Amino acid sequence: MLVLGLETSCDETGLALYDSDLTGRTGLLAHALHSQIAMHREYGGVVPELASRDHIRHILPLLTQVLNMAGKTKQDINAIAYTQGPGLAGALLTGAAFANALGFALRRPVLGIHHLEGHLLSPLLSDTPPAFPFIALLVSGGHTQLMHVTGVGRYTLLGETLDDAAGEAFDKTAKLLGLSYPGGPAVSALARLGQPGLYPLPRPMLHTDNLDFSFSGLKTAVLTKVKMIGANLNDEQRANLARDFVDAVVDVLLAKSLKALRTTHTRQLVVAGGVGANTQLRDALNAAAQRHNYSVHYPDLELCTDNGAMIALAGALRLKNMRPILSDHHYAYSVKPRWPLEMTE
Ligand code: KG4
Ligand code: ZN
Repeated sequence: MLVLGLETSCDETGLALYDSDLTGRTGLLAHALHSQIAMHREYGGVVPELASRDHIRHILPLLTQVLNMAGKTKQDINAIAYTQGPGLAGALLTGAAFANALGFALRRPVLGIHHLEGHLLSPLLSDTPPAFPFIALLVSGGHTQLMHVTGVGRYTLLGETLDDAAGEAFDKTAKLLGLSYPGGPAVSALARLGQPGLYPLPRPMLHTDNLDFSFSGLKTAVLTKVKMIGANLNDEQRANLARDFVDAVVDVLLAKSLKALRTTHTRQLVVAGGVGANTQLRDALNAAAQRHNYSVHYPDLELCTDNGAMIALAGALRLKNMRPILSDHHYAYSVKPRWPLEMTE
């Protein structure tokens, strides 16, 4: 079965074709992405209305591109999966409208997929895929969650951020350090040049007996240090501050992931979402995996941030494992800008 996946929840237009008769990465026949990062950079963050308009401009050319890459035609598509939420309402609507219009024209089933489900299943497309059950650490610009995943559509929330997401903390810290949007990769690169321990920062909720996170206080602590240093933050000070910030975030994500593995007696960790591309986090989780005898799985780097491949895969797995009832929705659609993952069954 050939599934078209569409991702338009934020600032990337991603399309992909996944063949569910093949397995793992071999099923991914084509994927293509248009990133809006350059367009939003001048505003220091995503401008929702511009995001929606840009998705509309790129979605059809990207469909032609993935069909050509895979050597397929529209008629070969058996089902269409699109990101139904969470995300920016206008941006989600472009994908939802496109998916349902195409489904109507081709008379094919259309499925709304949860964006985080896409992220947490995306390591199944890697060379070393995990098996169920596993713990998923979802770390993106909008979410920081630990999930116990026992199968497709079977997700139990173990803990989440009470305020800012990890990616948001990266982006806000980047702004404070004078780096451009999106801040994650820039802060990470700068931190590599810094010395640790010169600007000690808190590890919020590190020792609480739950699996929740909090990152807004950490961003405020960075702001306090910036103010303390004064107006002329030099390159060395910026690098040292970036280093202490990254160390603090990594410490907390590592400690809570280990705790989630321990309390659920699970031996596999999946890390997904944009912050999962962070090499300091990966180094720390890989080293701990050796010490504590668990395995850690990531999507391929190009599939860490938003993409259509993860949505096509999630759609294909839902069709295969859950046999969703698709016949009488008459191609009416709605989007869910706020949508808890546990409510997707
Ligand atoms: O999953 P994603 O592409 O979009 C959302 O669903 O939010 O994640 C984007 C987030 C941004 O906050 C970005 O700064 C962060 O992921 N990010 C990183 C890195 N690459 C992207 N954060 C830390 N280190 C990175 N290398
Ligand atoms: Zn995402």
